[in-house]
Amino acid sequence: MKRFLNQKAIELKQGAIRAMFDKARFYKDVISLGIGEPDLDTPEEIIEEGCKALRSGKTHYTGNAGIIELRQEVSEYLKKFNINADPEGEIIITTGGMGALALCLLVTISPGDEVIIQDPQWLNYYAQVKFAGGVPVPVPAYEENQFRLKAEDIKKKITDKTKILMINSPNNPTGAVLDFNDLKEIAELAIEHDIIVISDEVYSSLLYDGIVHCSIASLPQMKERTIVVNSFSKTFAMTGWRVGFASGSREIIEKMTRLQENMVACVAAPSQYAAIKALRSMDKAYEMTEIYKRRRDIMIEGLNSIEGISCYCPKGSFYLFPNIKKLGKISEALANDLLEKVGVICIPGSAFGDQGEGYLRISYANSEDNLEEAIKRIKKYVEEQIK
Ligand SMILES: Cc1ncc(COP(=O)(O)O)c(C=O)c1O
Repeated sequence: MKRFLNQKAIELKQGAIRAMFDKARFYKDVISLGIGEPDLDTPEEIIEEGCKALRSGKTHYTGNAGIIELRQEVSEYLKKFNINADPEGEIIITTGGMGALALCLLVTISPGDEVIIQDPQWLNYYAQVKFAGGVPVPVPAYEENQFRLKAEDIKKKITDKTKILMINSPNNPTGAVLDFNDLKEIAELAIEHDIIVISDEVYSSLLYDGIVHCSIASLPQMKERTIVVNSFSKTFAMTGWRVGFASGSREIIEKMTRLQENMVACVAAPSQYAAIKALRSMDKAYEMTEIYKRRRDIMIEGLNSIEGISCYCPKGSFYLFPNIKKLGKISEALANDLLEKVGVICIPGSAFGDQGEGYLRISYANSEDNLEEAIKRIKKYVEEQIK
């Protein structure tokens, strides 16, 4: 069969997260701290709107950039973050954040262009960049900086081939949130070296401890060189609806729209109508954020009470990235042990890049009872190891 495939397809591999779940299928009574999606259901009023759309005949193709009513609503939403995006030409509705990332990379990357990606980082970035013909260039983010990507580290990796910088705050897998100064320094670098910034903000509503989301696109001279990617998946527990959006310069959004036209036509119509309702239901998103905050606090306290594990307290997303170096096992071996011996799924930090070795990614998108039980199990495992 291999002879029918092109080289880029041959290189496509299953990600480590999916692989972990495949393995877990053979175990009973497993608690998953591996999943990268909300365990909560889409709020009822949003579901209702999707059903209403279906029943009222919204069962056809829509315009390639998405329905104008949703683009207008997205434009209003972006204003809250000081981004002025014209719904006619500067916004596109996409198949989740992933759809937006794919279109954007495919219309901007020329073969051999270098794309700077934080390490550790959600690994789909690497696969997408490579498929678009680009060369991923990892830049380490360090625990000493709470895994915030620093301009000084990016600078070391800039060459005359650097075309794009991808940032993701709040971050998957670390939960790190870039503060205003981090963003300002990164913006200065992007302007100086004429780099496009793709700002993946899919976790922007999941912020804790009074932190307010700041988009790099709102900084001076950054709107024209930034593509903001966002999604309804995490904010409104709508992963299965497959709806997200991107905003950016007319030039790029126009080509993303043409590509969407030729590849998939548009996002499912009922999902787009439901998304309008979602943006008018921000209170639901904030209620969910409160739930995640309680869970984060349970997990932070629990993990830090286990000898050999230490975990900084991230300000965003629903991930923790505990340091497991003192346990004396590489992260893959530890994740396998936790699954096999105590039935807890965690993702090895090494799945997110070299810099992730020595850590686990833990998702707290699970009930408080399950999280407490998971902590008990991890503790039991560690104590038995030490004995
Ligand atoms: C950092 C990051 N960006 C984008 C996405 C894409 O999500 P979706 O396509 O469901 O919007 C994810 C999903 O896990 C993510 O973690």
